[in-house]
Amino acid sequence: MGGGYVGLVTGACLASCGHRVTIIDPDQEKVTSINRKEPPIFEGGLTDILQKYGGKTLFASTSCESISSADLIFICVGTPQGEDGSADLTFIREAATQAGGAIRESEQFQVVVVKSTVPPGTMKDLVIPAVLSVSGKKEGEIGFAMNPEFLREGRAIYDFLHPDRIVIGTDGDEAYQALEALYESFDVPKIKTSLTAAEMIKYTSNAFLATKISFSNEIGNICKSLGLDVYEVMAAVGLDPRIGSLFLNAGAGFGGSCFPKDVLALVHMAESAGVDPLILKAVLCVNDHQPDRMIGLLQKRIGNLAGKQIAVLGLAFKDNTDDIRESRAIPVIRALFRAGATISAYDPMAMEAMSRLFPDVQYCLSAASALTGVDGALIMTEWPEFGKLKEEFSLMKTQVVIDGRHMITGPGIEGVCW
Ligand code: UDX
Repeated sequence: MGGGYVGLVTGACLASCGHRVTIIDPDQEKVTSINRKEPPIFEGGLTDILQKYGGKTLFASTSCESISSADLIFICVGTPQGEDGSADLTFIREAATQAGGAIRESEQFQVVVVKSTVPPGTMKDLVIPAVLSVSGKKEGEIGFAMNPEFLREGRAIYDFLHPDRIVIGTDGDEAYQALEALYESFDVPKIKTSLTAAEMIKYTSNAFLATKISFSNEIGNICKSLGLDVYEVMAAVGLDPRIGSLFLNAGAGFGGSCFPKDVLALVHMAESAGVDPLILKAVLCVNDHQPDRMIGLLQKRIGNLAGKQIAVLGLAFKDNTDDIRESRAIPVIRALFRAGATISAYDPMAMEAMSRLFPDVQYCLSAASALTGVDGALIMTEWPEFGKLKEEFSLMKTQVVIDGRHMITGPGIEGVCW
């Protein structure tokens, strides 16, 4: 249930592992696109799987009919940020209710599995009661599981097929065995735990990764003030296996559909439970400051931004995706407009999405064209092609570049924290 990033990738990958899958989504356009074997989102490798399994063992539908005969029912709907920062569980409630209705008449043992990121307690307090009350079944007649997904956008298929671990929180052995059998071909640790611990594992993983990034950014800001390159420092620090070398890339900060939303939701959960989450609040605060730092560095070099023409290179929240959710380019563009600058921008994939948010940006077909005649430039996304830019900078009116992703070095180029 749910044909977004998690649902579509999960469905496609499970089909590629030999299972029969129906992806259910109320969006007719999305369903038609999947059945046409054209993914409604950009994700490397997804088209190949749809081409191979679409119409054979992988289907999409707006109807919940196939749920009644399914062995496992995965709920993969969104849990967007509510107005107060908490996770909005409207779609989870709807999916649980629909699943309950669809299995009313079924006589087989079925397992309802949540893959969406949901606050600890959601399975026990919301999903299980909703499914049981609508289906009219008793506890034990249906299994429940929480099986969080750790995939990264842009590398989602690889991540699904090569996990480090599979977390299976369940309400009983029968449900656990069903999931263990589903993932039989995955030779990785399978963590058998409770529903609520599995929910917390997902938030903790995302919050820890976000903490590593904000920590690196803070160290980076200190390093810059000391005339040091944080990447040189972190390369040595990360070799300590207790620390690890991944997610220590300092720069413009984290965006995307998970880290900002999940850390904020965890802050909200902590505060509701009477705990003051000092570190998590600082993680968000450092992240919010990095784009401002980039604007500050630009102003220091070229002065008042009013009337200046600035190039923004990179609009997606990271490379390999057209997703702009919580992209660090968004606060930067807002600040530039607020300061009275005009903006030219280039991104290999995300210009269409960003043009809906900022129609007044001049979108260019290449980095060279975005850089031509500008007073300054900001690099916001780690697209590999930006690492190859060189002569293109000579097209600028003034060669002032603030690099938010440690992509390039050269005359006039300065890193946000190196
Ligand atoms: C993340 C988690 O990695 C994944 O396990 C979870 O399931 C969903 O959230 P995703 O948001 O797709 O995945 O992307 P990720 O590669 O983690 O990057 C998130 C953001 O952090 C990007 O904006 C990226 O640019 C930034 N980042 C990442 C850094 O600033 N520094 C780093 O060292 C790593």
